[in-house]
Amino acid sequence: MPDLTLRLYLVLWRAMRPLFFLNSPQRAHDRVLVLLSELDGSDLATSFFSRIHRSCFPPAGDRPAEVGGVRLSQALILAAGMVKGTGFETEQDALKAVTAGHNILPGWRSLPALLGPVEFGSFTRWPRMGNDGVVLWRDSLSRSTHNRVGLRNPGARAAASFLEMRHEKLPAIWGINVATSPGVDDLRRQGDELLESIAFFLDAGVRPAWFTLNISCPNTGDDPRGSDSAALVQTLCEPAVQLARPTPIWIKVAPDLGPEQYRALPCACASSGVRAIIATNTLGQASPENPRQQAGLGGAGLFPHARQAQELLQGHLLGNEGSVDLIACGGILDGASWRACDTRAGQYWSALVWRGPLAAALILREGRNDHDH
Ligand SMILES: Cc1cc2nc3c(=O)[nH]c(=O)nc-3n(C[C@H](O)[C@H](O)[C@H](O)COP(=O)(O)O)c2cc1C
Repeated sequence: MPDLTLRLYLVLWRAMRPLFFLNSPQRAHDRVLVLLSELDGSDLATSFFSRIHRSCFPPAGDRPAEVGGVRLSQALILAAGMVKGTGFETEQDALKAVTAGHNILPGWRSLPALLGPVEFGSFTRWPRMGNDGVVLWRDSLSRSTHNRVGLRNPGARAAASFLEMRHEKLPAIWGINVATSPGVDDLRRQGDELLESIAFFLDAGVRPAWFTLNISCPNTGDDPRGSDSAALVQTLCEPAVQLARPTPIWIKVAPDLGPEQYRALPCACASSGVRAIIATNTLGQASPENPRQQAGLGGAGLFPHARQAQELLQGHLLGNEGSVDLIACGGILDGASWRACDTRAGQYWSALVWRGPLAAALILREGRNDHDH
């Protein structure tokens, strides 16, 4: 039965993909968000998606992945950046939209029903409109994406308030990704913002299975390569670990950091109580349209960079007696790339573009025979 549903999905996706690709990446993304916003409100759609999930993904309990202090129902998590919501100019505007009943986080209900574990966010302390103009690109030849969305989101307070009002319908296993505001250079202020963001969720009774601290956003003008990664982790993470306890804290790091930065991370994570490292976020590069603008590379083009970071981290994680796990992210598009990562859990985003909404089910199936942990 699972194979039958997945085979049917493949036929449908192959037929629909050319139509989908008639839209520019940005338009396609915006349309998907409008659709998700509608679907979130429908009990029928949610139960239909749950049924599809059950027939296409390995049964929960069959192959759970214990990672970063969380028991995942499956090994692949939808990465941050899909369920992060609308941008607002001010917190007041965002809160007004919540009170008015608007869906400010399209996909919050329908995507977990269809895909299993999803990481919401990134949410920053204050709302952000993100970057103007074209912010999303896809390159079919290299199966890569570029984005410079620029952390558009409604802000942590409004997101927490929105989720609080829907807490009964929140998924069983999901995560929240919080990020510092671009341009905030002072480490102590960055830490305060992260703590305030996490506190909004906790105070609202919204407790995900994990919180991720995103210390790696490439398309906002902040360059993570110059930072002292160990100091960053210690300053930002230790207080977050205390605050969120017992909910585990994960961090998300950038690709192409110096070997010294990766070397220092596992130890800093272990001593701060961080339970997992997601490697990696997108790679900052010149955007396809404007060499003066930075955009984040994802998909197959990111894969070798992400793998290099994962290999460096894996070597240094061995000394930490398993207290910190590695979660692969970057260019996981099929069974082969997933197997190559050799981690218990992974995150994906660009696979949605090339392989459609059930990309993770296809990847897990393709990787299933050899990727036995
Ligand atoms: C449109 C878009 C928006 C994203 N937004 C975020 C974000 O807000 N926070 C974050 O941590 N990562 C964000 N990401 C990065 C993804 O979570 C992921 O790390 C990256 O795309 C690499 O995985 P992939 O090669 O499977 O795409 C975003 C990616 C894309 C394509």
